[in-house]
Amino acid sequence: MKLVRLPQRLKTISEYIDYNDTVIDVGTDHGKLPVYLAQINPKRVIMATDISANSLKAAFLTAEKYALTKNIDFLVTSGLKNIDLSLFNTIIIAGLGGETIVEILSDIKWQKNGRKKLILQPQSKTNKLCRFLYNNHYNIIDIKTILDNKREYTIMNCSKGG
Ligand SMILES: C[S@@+](CC[C@H](N)C(=O)[O-])C[C@H]1O[C@@H](n2cnc3c(N)ncnc32)[C@H](O)[C@@H]1O
Repeated sequence: MKLVRLPQRLKTISEYIDYNDTVIDVGTDHGKLPVYLAQINPKRVIMATDISANSLKAAFLTAEKYALTKNIDFLVTSGLKNIDLSLFNTIIIAGLGGETIVEILSDIKWQKNGRKKLILQPQSKTNKLCRFLYNNHYNIIDIKTILDNKREYTIMNCSKGG
């Protein structure tokens, strides 16, 4: 099986995901990351979401190309609205602005939803997101800065809840 080719940024994010992790990819767009994660473990519970129906369609087409449409749930929604978070232990939010990531995280009812792994990659306003995580007692496990196509990206491995 030919694995979907990920840019360095998404490859680095994928390295934080364990084989049995159950994953939501928020703002998936092209859907390469959930398709890759479904290739690694076709039995994992995985959902790809996007606020844009067109983006989600692109994700569906990527999954179709790799015959994985039945292995991934697709949902048009803003952030984590209308998602049963108890089904997932890992939330990926990559390529969205730091302020949008803060808004999405602010909506989560942590006590109710148990402990989650969060892999966050803000496209902007990284300081604002860091301050939010710090002030709201998220566990920041590590932060990596990587170069991909001559651009710097910050990837944060955090946890919260439970
Ligand atoms: C730059 S793309 C990132 C795609 C992919 N996550 C990545 O890192 O390569 C940003 C995507 O986030 C989606 N988006 C923006 N705001 C969102 C929100 N509040 N909830 C869900 N998706 C959102 C956009 O429609 C777009 O498809």
